[in-house]
Amino acid sequence: MDAVIRTERLTLRPFVEDDADALFDIFRRPDVARWSGTGEPMTERDQAVQRIGRFPTRAGDHPATGIWAVVDDDTDVCRGQLMLVPLPPSTGVDRADIEVGWHLHPDVWGRGYASEAATALVERGFAAGFEELYAVTDPDNVRSQAVCRRLGMTDLGLHTEWYDQELRAFRLSR
Ligand SMILES: CC(C)(COP(=O)(O)OP(=O)(O)OC[C@H]1O[C@@H](n2cnc3c(N)ncnc32)[C@H](O)[C@@H]1OP(=O)(O)O)[C@@H](O)C(=O)NCCC(=O)NCCS
Repeated sequence: MDAVIRTERLTLRPFVEDDADALFDIFRRPDVARWSGTGEPMTERDQAVQRIGRFPTRAGDHPATGIWAVVDDDTDVCRGQLMLVPLPPSTGVDRADIEVGWHLHPDVWGRGYASEAATALVERGFAAGFEELYAVTDPDNVRSQAVCRRLGMTDLGLHTEWYDQELRAFRLSR
């Protein structure tokens, strides 16, 4: 499958190390970091370099999965990170699901970029044969839950099967 994905306003392309500045400027922001991983904002650019370095492993080995830099075609600036990746099951849970996920710079929230980019990843996942795609959100992350609804995903309520956390899960079937 193509490494680069184009939508009406965006280009999704593989990350390169030069994206570290843009990624750092996204994940140093508490408004973004609080919904990701430990919840702690990045404090150094090198953390973004390391994050980019982990992407190939996190993306898994299916040809359709990946983690993409979301580039705004008007400015050619990396505005976010979108992913279609294996969804980590909680300890002791035997599941192999695929999740779609999104993180954007706050400057571009409210433009429909997350929904536009995620729609392209959902189409890619279904074209590759995945029967179901999931999104998992912090129970308080209403902006992310709104993206799930815009994608037409079904709200499954609170679940503990993934990430060893209680998360509000959404599913879209092919
Ligand atoms: C979650 C996140 C990606 C959502 O971004 P977003 O811009 O709100 O989401 P969308 O791309 O769906 O945009 C929808 C908004 O754009 C508006 N919009 C403007 N132009 C639009 C267009 N052409 N098409 C669609 N929506 C458009 C919509 O009306 C909506 O506005 P609203 O928030 O006032 O209701 C963003 O808030 C973020 O990065 N958060 C931090 C990281 C995070 O929480 N990630 C998820 C972890 S589970």
